[in-house]
Amino acid sequence: MRQAGRSLPEYREIRGAGTILRAIADPDLATEITLQPVRRYGVDAAILYSDIMTPVHAIGFGVDIEPGVGPVVAQPFTRREDLTRLRPLDPEADTPYVLETVRNLVAELPVPLIAFAGAPFTVASYLLEGRPSRTYVRTKALMHTDEALWFDLMDALADLAIASLRSQLDAGASALQLFDSWAGALSPADYERFVLPSSTKVLGAFADAGVPRIHFGVNTAELYGLIASAGAEVVGVDWRTPLDAARTRVPEGVGLQGNLDPAIVAAGWGPTEPAVLDVLRRGGGNPGGRGGHVFNLGHGVMPETDPETLERVVELVHAHRPDVQA
Ligand code: CP3
Repeated sequence: MRQAGRSLPEYREIRGAGTILRAIADPDLATEITLQPVRRYGVDAAILYSDIMTPVHAIGFGVDIEPGVGPVVAQPFTRREDLTRLRPLDPEADTPYVLETVRNLVAELPVPLIAFAGAPFTVASYLLEGRPSRTYVRTKALMHTDEALWFDLMDALADLAIASLRSQLDAGASALQLFDSWAGALSPADYERFVLPSSTKVLGAFADAGVPRIHFGVNTAELYGLIASAGAEVVGVDWRTPLDAARTRVPEGVGLQGNLDPAIVAAGWGPTEPAVLDVLRRGGGNPGGRGGHVFNLGHGVMPETDPETLERVVELVHAHRPDVQA
């Protein structure tokens, strides 16, 4: 998630003003920012400091990320000719800074590094809407009025995600996460028809890569079964669905990641402690050989969160680690 740095004073100190894309393009800075939460919190994995929009930005689609707003696109995708603005990604030439950051991190990190990419639907929603949307009117209009162009767009974005993920893994990352943050805007029927094939293609490209694959979305309670069918080992769950309920919606053996409410964490340790214990209890154990549980928040850390609350979250989760209890 967008989570690591946002609550840390040491992040705000070194991040610099302006677009985050500039910080991402500076390997020494991006390395340090990735390391900060690992150092401060002692979490069990690091997520690369980059963004889901990095590849489309790097091939020159004309994307920026406005502080406090999110991704904005100067000339949104409107017609077939716009496909030519989505040329294939050449990671060594287009995103050498990402690869340098990954290599730096793999050399320095005491824990695994998670590579990531935006899923075709969520990236497409920014390219089509031009900025964050609540309704996805343009995105849904394209899928329902020009299916051929929709699938060509999804295919181009799937190839970008695959090229980006492959380059991060080749540079040494040891797990991957596919972020389809806004998939929950879709009905199950639309998700299955218009989105599932391209996410399945991305995840399928790494079926034999020997790395765990995590597939994340927000507000996806009605979609967990379909999301699990795309092939990842682990499905992300937000706080709206208790983990024991989510467990019944994915096949046996699929792991769950989540799902502490970030707004509760922002409210301080008082409400957070019982919420953490509840997540651990509901995610708990591995009854009947079912998939495991990766403790996480249900979405990203809110910027106003007190870092000390997060320190205590990690401490409490570690005290309940099965290998610690055994
Ligand atoms: O947090 C981390 O350091 C991990 C790296 C990371 C970022 N973005 C950096 C970032 C990751 C994994 C992402 C993924 C991402 N980016 C997603 C998928 C995950 C999710 O949170 O749902 C999405 C939807 C985006 C697009 C995006 N980038 C949005 C909506 C925003 C928020 C704009 C804002 O200022 O609130 C961003 C900006 C962004 N990307 C920040 C970070 C740390 C915010 C702080 C900053 O600009 O410094």
